[in-house]
Amino acid sequence: MNIKQILIDKANAAMLAAGLEEGTNPAVTQSTRPQFGDYQINGAMGAAKKLKTNPRELAQKIIDALDVSDLADKVEIAGPGFINIHLKPEFLAESVASANQDAKLGVAEHAKADTVVVDYSSPNLAKEMHVGHLRSTIIGDAIARTLEFRGDKVIRQNHMGDWGTQFGMLIAHLEDLLNDGVDLEKVALADLESFYRDAKKRFDDEEGFADRAREYVVKLQQGDAHCDKLWQMFIDTSVKHSEEVYAKLNVTLKREDIYAESAYNSELQRIIDVLREKGIAKEDQGAQVVFIDELANKDGEPSVFIVQKSGGGFLYATTDLAACEYRSHTLGADRIMIFVDARQSLHFSQVEITARKAGFLRDETSYEFCPFGTMMGEDGKPFKTRTGGTVKLADLLDEAVTRAKAKLSERESPLSDQEQEEIASKVGIGAVKYADLSKHRTSDYIFNWDTMLSFEGATAPYLQYAYTRVKSIFRKAGIDSAAHQAPVVIAEPQEKALAIKLMQFEEVLDQMVSDATPHVLCGYLYELASLYMSFYEACPVLKEGVSEEDKNSRLVLCSLVAKTLQKGLDLLGIEVMEQM
Ligand code: ARG
Repeated sequence: MNIKQILIDKANAAMLAAGLEEGTNPAVTQSTRPQFGDYQINGAMGAAKKLKTNPRELAQKIIDALDVSDLADKVEIAGPGFINIHLKPEFLAESVASANQDAKLGVAEHAKADTVVVDYSSPNLAKEMHVGHLRSTIIGDAIARTLEFRGDKVIRQNHMGDWGTQFGMLIAHLEDLLNDGVDLEKVALADLESFYRDAKKRFDDEEGFADRAREYVVKLQQGDAHCDKLWQMFIDTSVKHSEEVYAKLNVTLKREDIYAESAYNSELQRIIDVLREKGIAKEDQGAQVVFIDELANKDGEPSVFIVQKSGGGFLYATTDLAACEYRSHTLGADRIMIFVDARQSLHFSQVEITARKAGFLRDETSYEFCPFGTMMGEDGKPFKTRTGGTVKLADLLDEAVTRAKAKLSERESPLSDQEQEEIASKVGIGAVKYADLSKHRTSDYIFNWDTMLSFEGATAPYLQYAYTRVKSIFRKAGIDSAAHQAPVVIAEPQEKALAIKLMQFEEVLDQMVSDATPHVLCGYLYELASLYMSFYEACPVLKEGVSEEDKNSRLVLCSLVAKTLQKGLDLLGIEVMEQM
């Protein structure tokens, strides 16, 4: 159920009937205050200005043609020409009751299912995942889950960086360790960071090593079996490291979602050939370059996009062009959504412009670079360890769980140690995720353990706790919350406010997937939990003196709140528990 969309359709019809031209924006919004109704149609003012007529008179004409009797009991003109819509309690009551019986909580599937490629996480395999990969991984995962829930066909692509010059040095180093009989998993690759450091040190300092490393890169790219085997070993271990992180993070990425840079290797020369044949790329100092006028600087100099190095080597750019073609033509993507740090904005603009000119992207494919801001430390600088090193993502997540455990142990709990462990893990990981997802995607934000783990304010622990509180009512009443059904009556203002919020779930999900903004859902769930608390204060459920009808009706509201919190958090990749 999408009340906003229903009103938009009805307002469009009314505006047409009132003589306005097709496509006039009805400007339907949620009202900001109860005295302005629940929704507003604000389009009369804009339209009147264009036609130079009186906006209130035009609003009246629209109202005369507007048929909203099935969902509203009052429609009025306010101020210069706002149309305020007051929703009918009976309509809300029925909608809540039917959503509560629906497995998808009344959320409809997209009318047209899109094929959406979601490129996220995509770490470089030369090193272990660090905090810089957190945002791409969890934002992308929330969007992928939500698109799926809305009925789209989602193709997850973990565009891992498994190809490039560093791998020559890594496999040369690996080869030597293997020859020395070092145990691969236990010793050599247990800590990818130090493995990388050691290899790099040899590359910089040791005679002959750098040459061997370069030779191995070439061999690798030519498909040499020995180098390929070493490379496979390295990649395999590195992928296992990231899989551990995905499991800790409760992220849906699987091994089969990996479509790494190396997957495009055999296409890269052809990509360059096409760019040259079409006159899009030109030779410049031995390299193949695309000069992009659309991105010229203020002196009019075109932006320089190198697609092949002077020695013939391919780059990150070449792979991304091949990825455009594969996703748009082979996979038939309607949308390609890429979750990458904002610092790569220029690269993706260059990719899109070039790929469109070359026909690697079909016109029907929308290419959506979804940048995100940086996670900062308390000092306002990018998040680092105390000594200034990069923080491994696995370590950060372990710390989150340890801190959650300490925090939870401050409270009395009837639960077993094992149950408490599980709760601490859900709370700790949930806290990190919610704190991140609730910020606007494109802003930088400051990482703070105390705020994210607090049981007050917009945090995962607060929402998880709110969920357990709703569930405890059903335990007390001895009623199965999932199966509870009853006629719903919306009488009190708190019931009405809660019912409207519940019916806005689909609107929120729609906005979230169209703009790639999980913070919209985070904010919604917090508002929902807060409205539930006010409802619970004002409208007793199990207290003596409450009629059976009221009790059962309110339990339906409670049940739908619990399911919506659970589903909403699940779409964010955050788990709930029955008790805490
Ligand atoms: N591996 C890259 C990095 O760590 C991100 C890749 C994103 N996806 C892409 N199609 N380029 O910065």
